[in-house]
Parts: sequence; structure tokens; C-alpha cells
Amino acid sequence: MSPLMVMLQVIVFFFVLGECVHNQLNVTCSEYERNALLDFKTGLEDPLNKLGSWNNGSSNCCQWWGIGCNKAGTVITVDLRNRYDHFWGFGGKIRPSLTKLKSLRHLDLSYNTFMNIPIPGFFGSLKHLRYLNLSYARFSGWFPSNIGNLSRLEYLDLEALELLYVDNLEWITGLVSLKHLKMDGVDLSMVGLDWFGIILNKLPSLAELHMSSCSLKGPFPSVSFVNSTTSLAVLDLSFNNFNSKIPHWLANISSLLSVDISDGGLHGRIPLGFAELPNLQTLRLRTNYNLNASCFEIFRGRWKSIKFVDLSNNKVQGRLPTSIGNMTSLTYLDLSKNNVQGGIPGSIGKLCNLNWLDMSYNKLNGTLPELLEGTHSCHSESPLPSLEYLHLKNNELVGLLPQWLGQLRNLVKLILNKNLLNDGLIPNSIGNIQYLNVLDLSSNNIIGNIPLSFGKLSSLNALDLSKNNLSGTIPKSFGQLSALQTLHLGDNKLSGNIPSSFQNLLSLETLDLGNNRLAGNIPHWLGKSWKNLRILKLRSNAFLGELPSVLSNLSSLQVLDLADNGLNGSIPASFGYFRGMIHVEREKFLISYGIDNGTRKFYEENMDLIVSGRELKYTKILSLVVTLDLSSNNLSGVLPSKLTNLLGLVNLNLSNNHINGSVQEDISKLSQLLSLDLSNNRLSGTIPNSLSSLSFLGRLNLSNNDFFGKIPYNGHMTTFEASSFVGNQGLCGEPLNVKCPGDNGTDFDKQPTPKDHNDDDDNFIDKWFYLSVGLGFAAGLLVPFFMMAMKKSWSETYFGFVENVVERYPFFERRMRAKRQWPRGLHH
Ligand SMILES: *[C@@H]1O[C@H](CO)[C@@H](O)[C@H](O)[C@H]1NC(C)=O
Ligand SMILES: *[C@@H]1O[C@H](CO)[C@@H](O)[C@H](O)[C@H]1NC(C)=O
Ligand SMILES: *[C@@H]1O[C@H](CO)[C@@H](O)[C@H](O)[C@H]1NC(C)=O
Ligand SMILES: *[C@@H]1O[C@H](CO)[C@@H](O)[C@H](O)[C@H]1NC(C)=O
Ligand SMILES: *[C@@H]1O[C@H](CO)[C@@H](O)[C@H](O)[C@H]1NC(C)=O
Ligand SMILES: *[C@@H]1O[C@H](CO)[C@@H](O)[C@H](O)[C@H]1NC(C)=O
Ligand SMILES: *[C@@H]1O[C@H](CO)[C@@H](O)[C@H](O)[C@H]1NC(C)=O
Ligand SMILES: *[C@@H]1O[C@H](CO)[C@@H](O)[C@H](O)[C@H]1NC(C)=O
Repeated sequence: MSPLMVMLQVIVFFFVLGECVHNQLNVTCSEYERNALLDFKTGLEDPLNKLGSWNNGSSNCCQWWGIGCNKAGTVITVDLRNRYDHFWGFGGKIRPSLTKLKSLRHLDLSYNTFMNIPIPGFFGSLKHLRYLNLSYARFSGWFPSNIGNLSRLEYLDLEALELLYVDNLEWITGLVSLKHLKMDGVDLSMVGLDWFGIILNKLPSLAELHMSSCSLKGPFPSVSFVNSTTSLAVLDLSFNNFNSKIPHWLANISSLLSVDISDGGLHGRIPLGFAELPNLQTLRLRTNYNLNASCFEIFRGRWKSIKFVDLSNNKVQGRLPTSIGNMTSLTYLDLSKNNVQGGIPGSIGKLCNLNWLDMSYNKLNGTLPELLEGTHSCHSESPLPSLEYLHLKNNELVGLLPQWLGQLRNLVKLILNKNLLNDGLIPNSIGNIQYLNVLDLSSNNIIGNIPLSFGKLSSLNALDLSKNNLSGTIPKSFGQLSALQTLHLGDNKLSGNIPSSFQNLLSLETLDLGNNRLAGNIPHWLGKSWKNLRILKLRSNAFLGELPSVLSNLSSLQVLDLADNGLNGSIPASFGYFRGMIHVEREKFLISYGIDNGTRKFYEENMDLIVSGRELKYTKILSLVVTLDLSSNNLSGVLPSKLTNLLGLVNLNLSNNHINGSVQEDISKLSQLLSLDLSNNRLSGTIPNSLSSLSFLGRLNLSNNDFFGKIPYNGHMTTFEASSFVGNQGLCGEPLNVKCPGDNGTDFDKQPTPKDHNDDDDNFIDKWFYLSVGLGFAAGLLVPFFMMAMKKSWSETYFGFVENVVERYPFFERRMRAKRQWPRGLHH
């Protein structure tokens, strides 16, 4: 062949190729389909004019936005998915002209806002449809069973936000090609569970079934056989209320890869068969409360492919078997809130991929292993090289803190609080965990000094060593912890001063050094350094000297507890200017620390405070507590009048000092006060009338002062008994049994009205109730509660309750999130 011919052929080849490509770009749709689409468009509301290209001027509908054609120019795709999440979607009507697109294979209307209209039944005549996505398209009402005619449909996504009802699932057997069915949020409460066997056995291609939050009710029917040809890999039935035994035949579906029946109301024994499923990677059965299993039996199984196990919040009991070390693919194990006993076997050292181990809130009463086994198999210098999160809170673990803890190179969170770890020092090696972000060893019996090496933990945000038996001084090296936001060293036997290196802790928001043996002055630099400090508790130490007036420069301070020290001098006038106490705090937010991957809080701030005369642990509502407690010191001087600036105060306690002066009428500005204790001082003057307007006040103690005159015993003040006023020589009138001069006595001879023994509780309840309303808690929830709670000690019950209510919120959040995230299962 001559070179010329070759060249010509090449040119022709490219020409043809070019023509071919040109043709493909230029496929033209039929006028019939174009008109169908134009008609379909007339039904739609299109706020962003996304369908601007759909017009008469543009004749080739294959090039329109959202439209796809095949080579023959037939429309096969209509993709109107709204990519702006829940905003700017299409609305309006779906006109039946859509069904003229006879070859349509792919229809996506997800994330639009077709409010108040049902899913059109005529979708059922789109015979060629393979993909139908109506996820969050906001259709509502009854689901059309005509959809069952779509025998080629492979993907059906109906995930719903609106009320979408399905009354039976018989139609589903028509979807013989179905691979993927997602109905999260659709109301299936009417369908029963008999369909399950049908889906399993009649839809051989079905690989993913998502029916989370579908109001499904049990019981699960027994299924006589599981067709071995089933393809089911992902099963999500979470957030339903089956109120049923867990179906054991689930464990016969050998194709399963991921099972999620969390929050399903299941009970009975977890089938051991799960352990033998060859492909199972994910098993989530959390928060069924009543699922039981023997830990020993279940983790002795094969678990060939398992990566993710979450059985938390159930009744799993017994001890972990050594063979747990055989589950070498495991990355995530959550057995929290069960009844697991014993210790942690050393064989966990073989779990080279383990990233997350949560066994908190169990009954582990053994030890942490002294040595980890099989760590060589991980081909890493450090044991458990993937472990980032170790959570063993609230158990009964005994023994030592093992050295290997300090070798966990990648650990981010170490939570061991509320155990019985004793006789042990904190291993110096802990200072080597360079990424450690949260360390909580509180409420154990740990003795000895705090290791100097702690200063190396430069990533630490939260450190809690409180409630141990630590002694010695606070290491100066703490000053290097520049990321530290919360530091709890309270309830130990620490001595010495507050190290001046603490000035460098610029991120500090909480400092609890209460109940130790610390001494010296309260350093002046405190006020200069810690702009973010929200809580300062130095209670019950041996601090001496005067209150530095510069403390008021702590502009975020909301809790100041210096009670029970040897402080003297007068209360600085500047104490009326704590900026964090001037505001009435109404928003409850959870204070938490630690890197948060969006779903987990790693350290929830908590603080034991005496607010209304009782010590209580505050967690969820800590952000609402504004308190100034300088009681039981040796303070003297005049009560600063400017304290009434601190409008947010919930608790003011200046008792057991030598403070003089008087209480002014403007005390009533402190309208949030729940507790006012000025007892055992030298205050004089009359009791201001305005006190009775403090309607939240549940506790008032003015006893043992030099107040005089008639007690303004009216309105709200009548809820306080004589004990609030005793020990003031000059006071008279009710509720004291002392007549005021000039009283003619008639009022006074009246017998005091007999008090119901519940009266006290009632008063508190009233006030707390109104406070709660003021704080925005759900009144409806609280009313019946208080009816019941009257007999109990009000405050503990109250807090327990509020904390529990707040605890429940994450449940709903999770539920909503569960609806949003997709696909789960496969992605762990
Ligand atoms: C349906 O659309 C939504 C959002 O547009 C998407 O997240 C989801 O994965 C789709 N479903 C299927 C089965 O492809
Ligand atoms: C679809 O199914 C319904 C019943 O589910 C049936 O009445 C109808 O004739 C079927 N065919 C079409 C094209 O909708
Ligand atoms: C499940 O498997 C077990 C053991 O292989 C068998 O005895 C049982 O009949 C199976 N159940 C179903 C419903 O297939
Ligand atoms: C199991 O499924 C296959 C494929 O769908 C089917 O041909 C077979 O009849 C089924 N077996 C039984 C016992 O239903
Ligand atoms: C599983 O663990 C046990 C005890 O640790 C051991 O004896 C056994 O050989 C292991 N089995 C496999 C398959 O690795
Ligand atoms: C604390 O440690 C001391 C010894 O340092 C010991 O005598 C005491 O019993 C311990 N207290 C507790 C509560 O463990
Ligand atoms: C305290 O704050 C005031 C005003 O913000 C400032 O003028 C003063 O210098 C501060 N005092 C100290 C010791 O930092
Ligand atoms: C209390 O302060 C007074 C002086 O204001 C002093 O005389 C007394 O010793 C102090 N008491 C204590 C226990 O520090």
C-alpha cells in the first residue's frame, strides 16, 4: 500500500469516527417524547428554573437538563434529583404524560418537594424502569400497588420523610428483578411480617433491604426454609418495634454481610448462628434492651469476616472467652451497657485491626491483662496498633493499670473511670501516648503521685483524675498541656500550691481542684490568663489570703466555688462584674470535649456542685448553673452591693463568714436565684420586702445574723420556715414565734396552719417546675412526673429526671440521622 493510501485511509477512518461521535452527540429525540416532556414540565414547579433548557426552541430533548437518551434517541433517563439537599426542589404535579416515555429506565425524583400528593400509580406502567428513586421526594399518602408491575425494576428507593403508607406488600412479589429496596421511614405498620419470607424466597436478586423506622410490628413469623439462592446481603430493620423474639432463621441466610436491627424491640437469645455466617461483616443489635446471649458462647464462634459488632444496651452476660482473639478482622466492638463479667483476656492483643473497644457499663470484675498476647502478629512496634478508643467506664475492674496502656501508640481516648482499680500507680508510660485526647481515670482508688510524664500529652483536651487517692504535688509539667480544656483533679490528697506554670493553660475552661490539701494564696495571674475559664472549683482546700479582685477578669466564669478554705479579707467590689454571671443563662447545651467525629461526645463535662444545699452531679444542665459560693471562709467586710449585678445567679452562698452590712431591696434583681444562703454572718438591717418576689427561691437561709425588724412574711416568703430566720436577735413576726412590738397579737395567736408533710416538696416542685419551663424544658413531660415525684426526695429525682430526658434526645437525633445516612451496613 502506498503511503498516500495509508494516509487517506487514516483520514477516512478519523472522518468516520468523527461522524460517529458527532452522531452520538447529536441523537435527536422524537417529537412525541419531546412533547411528552414539555407536557410533564407544565405540571412541575421549578423555583430555580432548572428546566430552562426544556423549551420549544430547543428541539433536541436528549440535550435537555436531566434527560438521557440511548443511541437511538429514545429517552431512557429522567434525573431530576435535587442536589441542594432539601432546598430548591421541584414541586407541583407529576403529569401522566411521563408514561409516554415508553423506554424510560431511570427515574430519579429524590429530594424534591412534591408535598401533599401521593406517588402516582401510573409509574407502574413504565415497564422498562430499572431504577426508581423517590427518596425524600416528599410524596405522601397511600402507596400505589401498581408499582408491583415493574418486573424489571432493580432499584427502588422510597425513603420517606412524609407520611407514606403501605397497606400490604403483595405487590412486591412482582418486582422479580429487584436488587435494592429502601423504604426507610415508610409506614408499614399495617403489613405484618408475613411478607418477610416472601421477600426472602421470591426475590432471589434482592441484595439490600432497608426498612428502618417503618413502624414494623411483630411477631416475626417462623420461616420454614430459607432458599439458599437468596442474595440478601444488607438487612436494615432498625428503629422498629417488633416486640418479638429475634428470628433465628436470620442466621441461616448465608449471604448476609450486614445486619442492623438496632432499636427493634427484640428479645430472646441472639442466635449463635450469626457467628457462623461466612460473609457477615457487620452486626448491629444495639438498644434492644432485652436481647441476651452468653458472651462466652457467642464470641467463641468462628466470625470469619466480622468487622463491626454492636450489641450495646442489651443483656449479654458472662465473660469474654480467650478465643475472642481469633476475630482478627474486628475493628469495632461495642458491648457497653450489658452484664459482661470477668476481665479482659490478654488475647485481645491479637486484634490488630481493633479500633474501638467499648465495654463500659458492664460488670467486669476481673483485671486488665498484665500482658497482651500475640502482639507480634500485628507487625507493629506497639500493641493493638489500630486502637484509638478504649472505654471501660463503670465496671468493677480491679488490679493495676498495666504498662502496655502506655504503649498504645495511637490511642485517642482512654476512659477507665468508675472502676475499682487500686494499689496501682499511674504508669509513667502513659505520657507516651502522644495523640491522647481524653484521659479519664476518675473514681478509682489510684494512689501515688501524678507522673511528671503527663506533661508530654500535648494533644490532651480533657483530663480527669478526680476521686482517687493521689498525693504529692501537681507536677509543674502540667503547664505544657496547652490544649487542655478541662482538668479535674478534685477529691484526692494533692498538696502544695497551684503551679505557676498553669498560666500557660490558655484553653482551660474547667478547673476542679476541690477537696484536696492544696494551700497558698489564690494566685493573681489566674484572672489574667484564663479568658475561657467557665468553672473554677477550689473548694475544701487550705487556700489562704485575700480574694484577688482581678478574678473578676475571668470573663467567662459562671461557677466560682471557693468555699471551705481559709480565705480572709473582704469580698472585692469587682465581684459584682463577672461577665459570665451577669447574663441569665437560658440555653441548655451540653458541654463536651474531645475530638468529636460528629456523632460521639468523648468527655461530657460534669461537676459535683452544692447548689441547693445538696451536692449533686451536674452534667447535661451544667451550662445553666451560675453559682458563687464563698461560704465557710474567714471573709469579713461589707457585703458588696454590686453583687446584685449578677443577674444570672442561681446560687449565692456566703454563709459561715464574718460579713457585715445589709441586704438591699434590689436583691430582687437576682430573679433566677434558687438558693440564697447568707447564714452565720454579721449582716444587719431589715430583711428586704422584695425578697418575696424571688419566686424560684427554694432555699433561703438568713439565720444567725443581726437582722432586725418584722420579717416580710407574705407571698412567696411564706414558704420558708422559722429555721430560715432563727438566730437573729432583732427579728420578729411570722414564722418566728416572736411578736413584733406594736402587734396587737390577734394575728399572732392564730394557730399556724397545719402543714401537710408534703408541703415542702410541693413548694420545691412548684419552683423547679417553673424554672424548668423558664429554661425551656418540655412542660408536658414534667407535669405528670411531678405528680409522681412528690413523695420522693425532690431534688435528686428532679435531676435524675432532667438528665434522663436530655439523655433521650440523642435517641431521636440518632433516629433522624439513621434515616439520613446511606448506605450504612456495607460501609464499615
Ligand atoms: C436515591 O437518591 C438519594 C439522594 O438523591 C441517594 O442518596 C440514594 O443513594 C439514591 N438511592 C439509590 C438506591 O440509589
Ligand atoms: C398493574 O397492576 C395493577 C394491580 O396492581 C393492575 O390492575 C394493572 O392492570 C396493572 N397494569 C398496569 C399497566 O398498570
Ligand atoms: C437453619 O439452619 C439449621 C441448621 O443448619 C436448620 O436446622 C434449620 O432448619 C434452618 N432453618 C431454616 C428456617 O432454614
Ligand atoms: C429457590 O429459588 C430459586 C430461584 O429463585 C427457585 O427456582 C426455587 O424454586 C426456590 N426454591 C424453593 C424451594 O422455593
Ligand atoms: C481460636 O482460639 C482458641 C483459643 O485462643 C485457639 O485454641 C484456637 O486454635 C483458635 N482457633 C482458630 C481457628 O484460630
Ligand atoms: C489512700 O491511700 C492511703 C495510703 O496512701 C491509704 O491509707 C488509704 O486507705 C487510701 N484511701 C482509700 C480510700 O483508698
Ligand atoms: C482586667 O480587665 C480590665 C478590663 O477588661 C483591664 O483594664 C485590666 O487591665 C485587667 N486587669 C488585669 C490584671 O489583667
Ligand atoms: C480570721 O480572720 C481574723 C481577722 O479578720 C483573724 O484574727 C483570725 O485568726 C482568722 N481566723 C482564721 C481561722 O483564719
